[in-house]
Amino acid sequence: MPGPPVPIRPRRQPFANLPPNLLDQLANRVIGQPQAMAQIVPYVQMHRAGLAADGRPVGVFLLLGPTGTGKTKTVEALADVLHGSEKSILRVDCGEFQMEHEVAKLIGAPPGYLGHRETQPMLTQQKLSGVTSENSNLSLVLFDEIEKAAPSMTRLLLGVLDKAVLRLGDNTSVNFERSLIFLTSNLGAAAMRKELCPDFGFESMLPPASFPKEARGGLAKLASIGMGEVRRKFSPEFVNRIDAVITYQPLSPESLATILDQQLAALEKHIRTRLEERAFEIELSESARGLLLRLGTSPEFGARELKRTILRKLTQPLAALVEGGKIPPYGRVRADVSEDRESLEFLVEET
Ligand SMILES: Nc1ncnc2c1ncn2[C@@H]1O[C@H](COP(=O)(O)OP(=O)(O)O)[C@@H](O)[C@H]1O
Ligand SMILES: [Mg+2]
Repeated sequence: MPGPPVPIRPRRQPFANLPPNLLDQLANRVIGQPQAMAQIVPYVQMHRAGLAADGRPVGVFLLLGPTGTGKTKTVEALADVLHGSEKSILRVDCGEFQMEHEVAKLIGAPPGYLGHRETQPMLTQQKLSGVTSENSNLSLVLFDEIEKAAPSMTRLLLGVLDKAVLRLGDNTSVNFERSLIFLTSNLGAAAMRKELCPDFGFESMLPPASFPKEARGGLAKLASIGMGEVRRKFSPEFVNRIDAVITYQPLSPESLATILDQQLAALEKHIRTRLEERAFEIELSESARGLLLRLGTSPEFGARELKRTILRKLTQPLAALVEGGKIPPYGRVRADVSEDRESLEFLVEET
């Protein structure tokens, strides 16, 4: 007689209640870029384990790839996961430091120089610790769109990337040993786009179906295009100090649809928490979702315009309905595409 069937799964699942791991938490926030998350996570783990090297930042990353694919979002997502707020980032928008004299604002003027007292350096130890939290002492530092900065910015960064030290105008120094440094750049993005869709140029007329395929084998090709431009723009010393150059891929229609879901869920949550007893449910038809995707995403700007599109086409008209008292408490609003096919129309139902 055969004995009772043996369960395939062990009856007890000791790990079932563990919180989701860092990789999952990031991948839930940054859609369609798993290879990027996988390259960053080990550095955070080294820091948490106390195994990061002394005398260097915990990690230095250069994020490359097309616009609107999640480069800046990655740093925001990590800030949210580590510190509970997307804003816990020491962020330098390099576009504001295109002139040599502007770069001096980062470190402050030496004592005795004109403006010494007025110019608070942007990169101080205090500002670095200001972006840590009870949960983590790791500071996230973002130099966004690094290719826009004056050349002296990269010279200044050399010491930070190499020794984790920045000397300020007043001769004190800032220690970056407990930080992750992210440099983002659109270098190579135009050439990558050509590689992905050679017929680009009619971009705004192309239907969404012509979105480039998510580059699987092609990612290596994109990375090499990006690295080529990086090598042309930055000195070998600078490039050698980067721990990982991470190339973001164009977002597939599936990823863009997931990002839309994510943003709609955020809107619904906002409605629930802000409006309390006046809260209502929203239901979008498939074509309404299609409209938001068509207007809010493109091969050129990725998902960058999606938030603004949702704001204009959905949030603002809903606000007008709420403000006009048109939505009963606990009502339901159904959104569909209006006849002009450029906006949404709403049907309010009582529940
Ligand atoms: N992979 C992604 N996952 C989730 N949201 C994204 C993604 N890519 C872009 N977005 C959305 O588009 C906006 C702009 O993306 P961002 O990360 O700033 O683009 P870039 O790659 O140019 O830095 C983000 O704030 C987010 O709303
Ligand atoms: Mg960006």
